[in-house]
Amino acid sequence: MPLTTPRDLFVHELADAMSAEHIILGMLPELAEEASHPELQKALRDHEKETRQQLKNLEQVFKTLGEQPEETTCFAAEGLQKEHQALHEEEPSPEILQMANVAGAAKTESYEIATYTALVRMAKDQGEREVARLLQENLDQEKEMAKRVEAVAKALGDEVKAAAKEALLAEKEAEKGRKAGEKRAKDEERARAA
Ligand SMILES: [Fe+2]
Ligand SMILES: [Fe+2]
Repeated sequence: MPLTTPRDLFVHELADAMSAEHIILGMLPELAEEASHPELQKALRDHEKETRQQLKNLEQVFKTLGEQPEETTCFAAEGLQKEHQALHEEEPSPEILQMANVAGAAKTESYEIATYTALVRMAKDQGEREVARLLQENLDQEKEMAKRVEAVAKALGDEVKAAAKEALLAEKEAEKGRKAGEKRAKDEERARAA
């Protein structure tokens, strides 16, 4: 069907968002399983529940508009899913996989925030207040999830920094020990020569 009106585009974009949520819902349990950080695991499990609600909100949006969602694939969400699969092929260690998943989750939430920001605007522009309210609910959840993901990214980053600092300290200690050993050897040599 050709898209000729803003309403056509709105309905088309809503179907795309629905497809994205279905794809993301399929990914979340695996991401939660791959998470060892407790807050990340909890955030992903909570977001799985939220995503089910987001899909219900989208169904309600279609009902309110008196429209049917067309069968479509969100290629952006599919791309994010493929990125995740591709990373698996690089055989990451569990810690690195978790880090990559956090970065991937941040990208996904950013995409969803952009999606719902546009959809809320379209709903408002077209005078669909109830629809705008439902979409705003989804947008708020995506923003909240993005914050939780960012907090985990920061915590994991702090661990990386702490480990680097520890390694540097250990290296300095080893260097000190080596120099002390050298000095002792020289002193002993001097004492023998005297
Ligand atoms: Fe979502
Ligand atoms: Fe999300």
